[in-house]
Amino acid sequence: MSSMWGGRFEGGLDPFFEQFNRSLPFDRRLLEQDIRGSHAWADALVGAEILSSDEARQIHDGLDRIAEDCASDPTLIGNADDEDIHGFVERKLGEQVGGLAKKLHTGRSRNDQVATDLKLWLKTATTELDGRVGELQSALLALAERTADLPIPGYTHLQRGQPVTAGHHALAYLEMLARDRSRIRDAITRADESPLGSGALAGTAFPIDREALAKSLGFRAPTRNSLDTVSDRDHVAEVLFACSLLMVHLSRLCEDWIFYGSYEASMVRFHDSTATGSSLMPQKKNPDALELIRGKCGRVHGHLQALMMTMKGLPLAYDKDLQEDKEGLFDALDQTSSCVRVMRTVVDTIEYDEARCRETSGRGYLNATDAADLLVRAGVPFRDAHERCGKAVLRALELGVELEQLPEEDLAILFGYDVADPQTALSVEEVLARRNVVGGTAPGQVRTQCHHWRQQLEEQTR
Ligand code: ARG
Repeated sequence: MSSMWGGRFEGGLDPFFEQFNRSLPFDRRLLEQDIRGSHAWADALVGAEILSSDEARQIHDGLDRIAEDCASDPTLIGNADDEDIHGFVERKLGEQVGGLAKKLHTGRSRNDQVATDLKLWLKTATTELDGRVGELQSALLALAERTADLPIPGYTHLQRGQPVTAGHHALAYLEMLARDRSRIRDAITRADESPLGSGALAGTAFPIDREALAKSLGFRAPTRNSLDTVSDRDHVAEVLFACSLLMVHLSRLCEDWIFYGSYEASMVRFHDSTATGSSLMPQKKNPDALELIRGKCGRVHGHLQALMMTMKGLPLAYDKDLQEDKEGLFDALDQTSSCVRVMRTVVDTIEYDEARCRETSGRGYLNATDAADLLVRAGVPFRDAHERCGKAVLRALELGVELEQLPEEDLAILFGYDVADPQTALSVEEVLARRNVVGGTAPGQVRTQCHHWRQQLEEQTR
């Protein structure tokens, strides 16, 4: 195979190194972007009077044909032995337009080319991911609407704390995903500057109108420093971080539901469509979908760490180390996107056992804070109320009952005569309804939040 840089060399490449050096097996995913960038560069070269309009037209036609041929026959690229996607396109263009293809690389380097391709690819991939996360949000919203007043135990330290509604729990994840989406968009907004025209490192030596070139590729503006541009992979790192944190959020939801679905908690049931059985134990129904998503979180994080280590201490400007940016990025986006998709199916199909949720939310002293609050309302300072309720819990534990089931005399010691009907006041429904502040778990608040999100999500898809 002829290389793109043969002149200075007398010997050929060691065959093993040749394979080691290649990025085509993975950067073939940049084909569309490489062709798009080449179209724009051909026009820019017309502006700089390097190509005639007729030559540019031939190049455009040739590039279009490469795109068509590769779309109809994937083995074309699969069987190619070029070093990378840029070499592949250049060679293919040669097959289409002959010697004219050799003019296209004027004033351009694979360094600004790959930076451009990658940014273009990132824009599309993250827009798709953003859309998928939006769909997951919609699924969570529907779940929240279905379970806006269903009590479940709320935990801190994985110890029973206070009851919350299942809807509130679903909306918590919807909020996290909203931040994830804004992080993804933010990264892309910062990356929205065109590298093309930066050359190998010092800027192109031809009078290219980089403003117009940037616009023609859909970028907001050209980058302002060529050295920075060809070595910058901040946007890759930022997207990897956004994916990593999104995966953290998914993994936390997985963990919550894996626990809720355990025999011990028995609050949710997994649908057959996302669970599997055991080859040995006939009774098993395992939450594989959730466990896999939780597991893949580590993999995506690994890609972020790998890139950070690759970039650390790299001298300006481009270094071949940067070729290592792509496999991790592609895999991170593939995995994250698949996880979001699978999670959506889980959210659509998961079932809360309502009777069990109501029953379990009424046990384990989830209303102890409210007992103290009742005393506060009757004028007892909170610290004293806390102490009295703590003692009441000890007594209830001794008797094996809930607070509101304490014998009359214990209730009288606890509340005095100041609190009317503590049984009702300590019911799960009342405990939930009392958290009627913005952001609180009261069913009314959850419905208000659902309404807010319904509007937000509809606006985004409009
Ligand atoms: N395959 C290379 C990459 O992925 C393209 C740029 C190569 N540039 C170079 N000067 N060798 O980064």
